[in-house]
Amino acid sequence: MVIKEAARILFVDLKAEYESLRTEVNQAIQRVLESGNFILGQEVASFEKEFSSYLGTEYAVGVASGTDALTLSLKALDIKETEGVIIPANVYPTAFGVSLSGVQLQLADVNPSNLNLSIDSIKNAIRPNTRAIVVVHLYGNPAVVDEISEFAKGKGIYLVEDCAQAAGADFGQKKLGTFGDISCFSFYPTKNLGACGDGGMVVTNNEGLAQRVKSLRMYGETERYKSTEIGQNSRLDEIQAAILRAKLPYLDRFNAKRKILAKLYIDLLRDMPIRVANHKRVCESVHHLFPIIVEKRDELQEFLKANDIAVGVHYPVCVHETPAFENLGYANGDFPVSELASRHILSLPMYQNLTFEEVERVCCKIEQFFK
Ligand SMILES: Cc1ncc(COP(=O)(O)O)c(C=O)c1O
Repeated sequence: MVIKEAARILFVDLKAEYESLRTEVNQAIQRVLESGNFILGQEVASFEKEFSSYLGTEYAVGVASGTDALTLSLKALDIKETEGVIIPANVYPTAFGVSLSGVQLQLADVNPSNLNLSIDSIKNAIRPNTRAIVVVHLYGNPAVVDEISEFAKGKGIYLVEDCAQAAGADFGQKKLGTFGDISCFSFYPTKNLGACGDGGMVVTNNEGLAQRVKSLRMYGETERYKSTEIGQNSRLDEIQAAILRAKLPYLDRFNAKRKILAKLYIDLLRDMPIRVANHKRVCESVHHLFPIIVEKRDELQEFLKANDIAVGVHYPVCVHETPAFENLGYANGDFPVSELASRHILSLPMYQNLTFEEVERVCCKIEQFFK
């Protein structure tokens, strides 16, 4: 008898996602190729309209990446080099876009129950020169953004939402991205709404901020060849915009599938000596990632890899432990919750085309590891 080898379980399967939307994505690309218009044309303008109306914001401006969305948002808010912006210490990718805007990074630890910023952690980090808070909805799980928004208003500082991992998530009756003065999205291919390359979006209800980001994404121009400040080249291209337009109508369905997969994981892992990293939630997560906290993280990671199950770590280092940010002057031990998480966190496979059978296999292997 030949026993069929179980196929490798991928961490994310972009090919499967493409296969499930092949006709729509191919048509979108073809449409752009035949239009002969590749930069800042009808597709970007239409996607900006469709994305802002999906979220419920007045304006959306397509940019080249989530990193650029953060940089341009902070520049649009006119935050100076002598002023500070609070970011969570446990979110490696956010630090770059914020730092590139030239502001001072002010790190805050996170709440152990959901690994997001909390009012208490913000209070510990706030300084007299703090001008903004960047709240990250990590792993797709909403932070207490209503309270944080109230707190920021009370202090007269800006709130920026980093929704890179939380496209389509709800908070009460509103979508994430509608609470900040300005909010940022990434369409990196593995995101819940992913392009076939890089892409990002800034959304806001403030016309002035939207205009400023529009100008900053194109040399700082207010009209062609009239640049009033030094901007950059950060444009979402037409092919990516067309692909994202094709995928946007499926985002809620994709997120619903992720929620079902997460429930299955939570159910099957219930009796094991692990903690689901963001299970204690304020509002339902859209599970961009499915991280668990486990004492013997490195051993479990090796065991799963040896059993053909791909896993990831988000993130193995905190911002202050990254050589590029050494100059911030923080020390080991300054952010205990973030540091502990980086040693024990492990992301299990999670994407909309993952099957229930694959989740069951992952959980069986984890059970086997503990036996
Ligand atoms: C929370 C968060 N912020 C910002 C970014 C940066 O986005 P991008 O890779 O599109 O520059 C990412 C992407 O990894 C992210 O996950």
